[in-house]
Parts: sequence; C-alpha cells; structure tokens
Amino acid sequence: MHQPLYAIPGSTPVAPQPHAPASPTARTVAEVLAQSDVEAVLRELDDELVGLAPVKARIRDIAALLVIDKLRAAHGLAAQAPSLHMCFTGNPGTGKTTVAQRMAAILHRLGYVRKGHLVAVTRDDLVGQYIGHTAPKTREVLKRAMGGVLFIDEAYYLYRPENERDYGQEAIEILLQVMENQRDDLVVILAGYADRMATFFQSNPGMNSRIAHHLAFPDYAAGELMQIARGMLATQRYQLAPDAEQAFGRYLDLRVAQPHFANARSVRNALDRARLRQASRLFAQRDRAWSAADLQTLEAEDILASRLFQTAETGHAASLGL
Ligand SMILES: Nc1ncnc2c1ncn2[C@@H]1O[C@H](COP(=O)(O)OP(=O)(O)OP(=O)(O)O)[C@@H](O)[C@H]1O
Ligand SMILES: [Mg+2]
Repeated sequence: MHQPLYAIPGSTPVAPQPHAPASPTARTVAEVLAQSDVEAVLRELDDELVGLAPVKARIRDIAALLVIDKLRAAHGLAAQAPSLHMCFTGNPGTGKTTVAQRMAAILHRLGYVRKGHLVAVTRDDLVGQYIGHTAPKTREVLKRAMGGVLFIDEAYYLYRPENERDYGQEAIEILLQVMENQRDDLVVILAGYADRMATFFQSNPGMNSRIAHHLAFPDYAAGELMQIARGMLATQRYQLAPDAEQAFGRYLDLRVAQPHFANARSVRNALDRARLRQASRLFAQRDRAWSAADLQTLEAEDILASRLFQTAETGHAASLGL
C-alpha cells in the first residue's frame, strides 16, 4: 500500500510528481540500466579516463542513486528531484571538464536533464562591465544551459569581496535562485582549485548549501601521465618508440617540476609538439618513402629536442641525472 508522501489533512492528497517519467516497466536495476544505456557511459569513463579512482567511484554512486530513484518513482515513492549540483576541485588538466561532459551524458540518459549538453562558462560570460548588464548576461547563459549542465570554471572569480560594488554578486544571486527552483532541468557544476573554492564557499554559504556533491580530482602520478600519453597517441594513430618512451618519462619528470604544469593538458601539449618535430624530421627527407610504422612512430629525438632538456642541461642537469 502506498502512503501519499505529503498528505495534508483535509485536502485531497496530491501525489508528488516524479521529476523524470519513470518507465512503467522498470522494476530492476538491470532494466533501468538497459533502458537508459547509462552503463555504456560508465564503461567509457572507466576505459578512456586513466586513474581518477575516487572520482569514478563517486560518479558510480551518483548514478546508483539516480537509478534507485527511478525504481522508487515507479513505485510512486519519488519526492522531488534530488539536488545534483556539484563542485569539481582540482589542479588544471586533471579532467574536470572532460568528466563534466560525461556527467551530462549520464544525467541525460537517466532522464534527469532533457538535452544533456554542457555549457562551459567563466566569470566574463556571466558578469557585465556596467550596471544593468549582469542580469541579462547571466539569464542568457542560464537559458542556453537549461536542459543540460552549466559548468562554471574558476567559479570563485564570481565573488570579489575587495570590490564592494562588484557585479559578480548579482550573478551569484540569480544562479542561487535558479539552482533552487529549476534543479529538475539544470545541473550546475562549479570547478576550480580546491583552496580558492573552499574560501568561496565560506563567504557564500548559500552556494555551499546548494552543492550536493563535492568531487576532488587528484593530480596524476607519473605512471598515469605516461598512460594518458599512450592513450592520446593511440587515438591519433601514433606511438612512442621504446627509447622515445624512456625520453618522454624523463620529459615528464622535468615538466612536473616546472611552473604552470597542467597534468593531462601538459601531456597533450607536449605530444602535439613532438608530432610537429616528427613531421619536420620526416619532411626533411624528400625522397624517402616512409612506411606506415615510420609515419606513426615518435622517436626519442622528437622528444629530446624539447627546450626543457636544453634548459635542464645548461641548468641543473647534474642534479637531475641527465
Ligand atoms: N584521466 C584522463 N585520461 C585521459 N585523458 C585525460 C584525463 N584527464 C584529462 N585528460 C585529457 O587532458 C585534457 C585536459 O583535461 P580537462 O580539460 O578535462 O581538464 P580540466 O581539469 O578541465 O583542466 P582545466 O582546469 O585546465 O580546465 C583533455 O584533453 C582530456 O581529454
Ligand atoms: Mg577545464
């Protein structure tokens, strides 16, 4: 027997509306998974993204919650849409934007957002320069993001306490309202460095209380960066020759210690440059018929020509054992 959840004495009990139409036939987890095809996204997330174990575990938890919610809805047990706003903290290039995109797909497949697209913005997209410009800008972005995920990169820049008349506050207030009232059609993900985000939440408790899930993206370990490199190359039909792999390992050791190191993004950039060098190397020999293997292989010299090795060699090469 089903008890109405919000029966008001003396009134006709109104069954709470489930936020997403639950399939009338779904009675098991397997059925929901089969109907939504959400497992394909979860598998992709596992297979294509290296490391990130804690993030992947949290996403599985969230997916599980949503699937069970669907089963509850099929039994008339659903209340209101769960709050799914999230905060992704981590250093640059740790996969926050990539995971947000996957998250949007998962939410879409489970029927939590209508369209499943991701709108990525920063402060400048939301906040105007002049009085009266911020509200229309923020509303326009929200309109574009409706039915999907709004990803706000470096969200703490919205709040500038040093400037008393900062228009960021106006954007925050509009966001807070929409995050509360339209949470069945829009998921907001705030992203940025952990420490600045913590300070932001301290000054904006309203925002903090609306964020249901905090996901921390760890820096990648050296072995993970190498694995990411291999994966990126494989999708582009390239590979590292064995001594190039060794050279790239040394490159990574140097790069990690440099300023502006950006995890997987730095790996991608380094590989792009190595491909340029490989192309120049092959280009220089006009009359050779290059084999498919030649064309796919990055050699050690394509890596070792990086400026990083030159700096290291003239600088503290000895201490680095180069
Ligand atoms: N775990 C991973 N496995 C494979 N590739 C990854 C992984 N994490 C990130 N990448 C790749 O690295 C690049 C940067 O990732 P992404 O843009 O998601 O990072 P980010 O945390 O949003 O960075 P930023 O803070 O600089 O915006 C992308 O090309 C992405 O595909
Ligand atoms: Mg990003």
